[in-house]
Amino acid sequence: MTYERTDAGRGTLISNNSYACWLQYKKIANVAYEKKVKLFLETVVAAESSTVMETALEELQAAVSKMTGVHLEKSAEPPANHGIVLSTAAHFHQEEIIGRHVLAGLGADGYVIRSLATDRKKLLYLVGKTDKGVLYAVFHLLRLLQTEQPLEQVNIVENPRNPLRMINQWDNLDGTIERGYAGKSIFFENNKITANITRIKDYARLLSSVGINAISINNVNVFEAATKLITKQLLPDVAAVADIFRAYGITLFLSINYASPIQLGTLPTADPLDERVQQWWKEKASEIYRYIPDFGGFLVKADSEHRPGPFTYGRDHAEGANVLAEALKPYGGVVIWRCFVYNCLQDWRDRSTDRAKAAYDNFKPLDGEFLDNVILQVKNGPMDFQVREPVSPLLGAMKQTNQVLEFQIAQEYTGQQIDLCYLVPQWKEVLDFDTYAKGEGTTVKSIVSGSVYGFSHSGIAAVSNIGNDVNWTGNTLAQANLYGYGRLIWNPELAAEEIAEEWIVSTFGNEPLVTAMIREMLMESWSIYENYTAPLGIGWMVNPGHHYGPNVDGYEYAVWGTYHFADCHGIGVDRTTGSGTGYVSQYFSPNKEMYESLENCPEELLLFFHHVPYTHTLKSGETVIQHIYNTHFKGAAQVAWLIDKWRELEGKIDQERYENVLDRLQRQLKNAVEWRDIINTYFYRKSGIADEQNRTIY
Ligand code: GCU
Repeated sequence: MTYERTDAGRGTLISNNSYACWLQYKKIANVAYEKKVKLFLETVVAAESSTVMETALEELQAAVSKMTGVHLEKSAEPPANHGIVLSTAAHFHQEEIIGRHVLAGLGADGYVIRSLATDRKKLLYLVGKTDKGVLYAVFHLLRLLQTEQPLEQVNIVENPRNPLRMINQWDNLDGTIERGYAGKSIFFENNKITANITRIKDYARLLSSVGINAISINNVNVFEAATKLITKQLLPDVAAVADIFRAYGITLFLSINYASPIQLGTLPTADPLDERVQQWWKEKASEIYRYIPDFGGFLVKADSEHRPGPFTYGRDHAEGANVLAEALKPYGGVVIWRCFVYNCLQDWRDRSTDRAKAAYDNFKPLDGEFLDNVILQVKNGPMDFQVREPVSPLLGAMKQTNQVLEFQIAQEYTGQQIDLCYLVPQWKEVLDFDTYAKGEGTTVKSIVSGSVYGFSHSGIAAVSNIGNDVNWTGNTLAQANLYGYGRLIWNPELAAEEIAEEWIVSTFGNEPLVTAMIREMLMESWSIYENYTAPLGIGWMVNPGHHYGPNVDGYEYAVWGTYHFADCHGIGVDRTTGSGTGYVSQYFSPNKEMYESLENCPEELLLFFHHVPYTHTLKSGETVIQHIYNTHFKGAAQVAWLIDKWRELEGKIDQERYENVLDRLQRQLKNAVEWRDIINTYFYRKSGIADEQNRTIY
């Protein structure tokens, strides 16, 4: 590894470009700009002290020194003419600079940045509602410096849209990562917490810099070793990790095994209505909070994909979750209960069971039954992070139950961080989707922010895409997804291009040509990936188990029959109420009518909702079969185009990152060609209809 520790073990300044991600803090090359900003950078005063405030100071000083060479002196007195003031709202009394009403408008993690620039004075005020707000303000200021924004007229008020902004690690105690594509876990090895605290701290910095405020550190599938995370044996080490995250304003959660009362060897049952079980969880909670006083709570996958849960005892999810919630309540902890519950042994020939319906069917009837410190975590689509899915109809359907939305930053079904797929545009479509749950304008983003139903807990969580590869994410360009996730959930109004641009400049420096090129590649990448993989919303055509590469009938949870219903006449899943599984009825009007109608259903989801003949004509005038051929030829050609683009950057960015991405793009091309050939051949043989353009199909 080439990263290093400096500053007597506090700020971890990194020499390796790919490791530093978007926190490069390169020396400012623009001399005129540097000269102007240096006028603000003489001293810094922090109005009070706390661990998070210390972090804010440390980050500011370290980054300023790297970017300008200035050692920002910490002073006890407010600067007279040149300098920076860090303060929480409660300690800030200069009303002529920031009015009381402005500070009163700040939410828990909000902040104000204001500059005062006259001939004689160059002052910057970073005022947070809390010390966490100050830390976010510091990262914002550093972003302004990295992207060379003028500081003279700064007047920024920021409040994150989502209260909970969470990352879910899927790391196992043996150091492997479920759906990890960038090496091993940075948290665990050999069934213990790793000793490499530096790496965890650097991860905390990256997350905090984009506004993440919560993390669960272990896989939702809690196997035997990880069950022990909540025991005396491992809690002291978990507490040490919590300390690192706390300093960056991030609260630690753990995934738990629902059968813990049995597995940890004390009770014969985990029945949530059994008093011994209730007592067991209460004692467990009290023990955990002795080690971690601000522990966030539990993340739970229960009764799904062979994980234990309340169903074993004839109890429902609400009864299952509430026993944990009762135990955590005295300490302010929450239970995040996942809605990814379905019968993975379903027989797809039986049209009365439709996996897409499962989350809604399981949870909607329980609305109002969950305690106030339970949050239901709902995947963005009804299936499982496919390249294209409709939005889950459960989002917004439960008016009396806290909800968070779940995304997957890890590219399980979108190229596994070999293929390029910038996911922010996909997430934006989900967030902007109008559910009509409370009439027009009830977008997903307004529901999960908590504003529509006044949830007591809400926000967004996502499965992380990092591992211990030097560049964290395997493909260096996949760093954009981690960055973009944080920025987007802080402010869902940001454009995908804007986020991409910020990321590129912070990561590769301020070179307009480099920025334009990488931005174009990122912005095209999702549709390219969709072109050469599963067509028109059908999904799933992946190899079983690892889920990379094409296999039309391979999906492991569709062993009985096929899930796409392709035969010699047509393809697609009829999910209408008229003749299909009835899934569309889970949506509010007018969405349900839109999806029900073959005419009005958005074409990118056509085969998700309808079974059509291969000769069905799309709005473009192409038939479905011709569309399949065309997009697959196009997608593979587009990957070749991505490679050409990237090659133009040789010498314009450092060789290490250049080669890393080139290698991935070349592997992506192989993958795209394989997809093209397998999909086209399969459907040519099924349909017997030739490509109009007579291209080679085997
Ligand atoms: C997918 C994924 C699993 C994961 C599951 C989940 O099915 O392939 O690895 O455990 O999602 O979200 O729980």
